[in-house]
Amino acid sequence: MANPSSFYLTTPIFYVNDAPHIGHAYTEVAADVLARWHRQAGDDAWFLTGTDEHGQKILRTATANGVAPKEWADRLVESAWKPLLDTIDISNDDFIRTTDARHEEGVAKFLQKLHDDGHVYAGEFEALYCVGCEEFKPKSEIVDGTGEFAGEKVCAIHSKPLELLQEKNYFFKMSAFQDRLLALYEERPDFVQPASARNEVIAFVQQGLEDLSISRTSFDWGIPIPWDSSHVTYVWFDALLNYVTAIGYGQDDAEFARRWPANHLVGKDILRFHAVIWPAMLMAAGLEVPNHVFAHGWLLVGGEKMSKSKLTGIAPNEITDTFGSDAFRYYFMRAISFGHDGSFSWEDLSARYQAELANGFGNLASRVLAMNAKYFEGRVPETHDERPADAAIRELAARAAATADERISAFAIHEAIAAVWELVDALNGYITEQEPWALAKDPEQRDRLSTVLATATEGLRALAVLLSPVIPRATAKLWTALGAEAALGALADQPIRDAGSWGLLPAGTEQGQLAALFPRIETDTEK
Ligand code: ME8
Ligand code: MG
Repeated sequence: MANPSSFYLTTPIFYVNDAPHIGHAYTEVAADVLARWHRQAGDDAWFLTGTDEHGQKILRTATANGVAPKEWADRLVESAWKPLLDTIDISNDDFIRTTDARHEEGVAKFLQKLHDDGHVYAGEFEALYCVGCEEFKPKSEIVDGTGEFAGEKVCAIHSKPLELLQEKNYFFKMSAFQDRLLALYEERPDFVQPASARNEVIAFVQQGLEDLSISRTSFDWGIPIPWDSSHVTYVWFDALLNYVTAIGYGQDDAEFARRWPANHLVGKDILRFHAVIWPAMLMAAGLEVPNHVFAHGWLLVGGEKMSKSKLTGIAPNEITDTFGSDAFRYYFMRAISFGHDGSFSWEDLSARYQAELANGFGNLASRVLAMNAKYFEGRVPETHDERPADAAIRELAARAAATADERISAFAIHEAIAAVWELVDALNGYITEQEPWALAKDPEQRDRLSTVLATATEGLRALAVLLSPVIPRATAKLWTALGAEAALGALADQPIRDAGSWGLLPAGTEQGQLAALFPRIETDTEK
């Protein structure tokens, strides 16, 4: 790798046929937590997201709404997809649209190279196509329809009828890469993660790879094939290339060398495109394959994948309007094992908000700052003799920080948060056991009181840093109230790999007021 400190992270680029639901927000938040963490670890991080705007699905939606596809895409990007990033505090560095000139030019260059190098040929083709997936379906994902579609072949994911397409297309000789792909999965076991996803991909490729149809002639909403403008590029071939066109492929070699290869975060619905087709395309073009392809699970509704097409989507702001963006981010990252499916429920969200955010973390912060105000005139107290209980907190902070960093580098976001939360729970237990309010009644215990509150305050300092990638708003408020902004600088500049070091916030630092980080919420489920 050219740049060992590069951490280039991508989300899928989302179809603009409809507005986002919490499934899309879930991917964005996971990527954002990883990006913020790596940025704060001092890595050369770059976080890309964007929208996928060509193809039949978008064209049909636009037509049904009586507008041109580009106009439709503009409308959805501005009214729905970019606002989503604000709703959930996404810190992306770039936003690519497949209708951007930089992208269309890069795609044309890439195609021309593959054509010049003999990886493309013209052929006839007939197969069953799912417009929902924008894919010719493999046999394993074609099932018999039921209900209104009885007697028809339907897509196993979308439950909608497949369309028989017969065309003269250009083909990418993907079958030629079968052995190199299998060798890749073998030599780099962490190329596809988690292990269940890797196994699925290996089994798929072992069945034998076919060549890939990469052009269409029946409609024109796409990037023209550079050597034959009567064809447009197949939407997935176009879309996957966003990951290189966004960082200067064919335009800015230095930027490309600095960023590539990427880490791709995707939902498991589009694993095959990223773990099979995409590396084969890169191999054909003589580019390095990605570092990792991580496939997360699905948010389920009634046991099925939440989806736009089945109208089971929940809009992210339905949650953030009541609970706030931090709670949204925390809940999905904490409650679902990253890489597995998970079900969203209002009851679970409410319960975790109250127990973990309000009573667990928020209350800890309020209590400690209130006691510093009351007993130490609102300044960080001094540490005197360290006792075993204090040392245990100090050691736990170091351990939590190290474990969380290691878990983040393995994409185990829920485990990283769990490791940090051990410190939240331990500090709450520590305060209950040390009873600073009782120590405060005895003037002879003044030094002990000071040490206990100094330990708790330093614990909060560590927590603010370690939790800032997950709950950036609450931790920013806490950081300011701790006086850390003035003493140590901006929260986002704190090196996260040093967060577990001790004694960073100087005694005597002046602290401020802290309003409840997670105020009590009256929800329907509690009424
Ligand atoms: O597939 N649970 O776009 P898309 C979890 N344009 N994640 C979910 C989800 C759910 N129920 N529903 C959607 C496309 N997602 C292509 C991608 S990339 C070169 C092109 C998330 O709008 C998840 O990340 O259908 C999934 O992979 C993605 O949205 C699919 O978004
Ligand atoms: Mg989809």
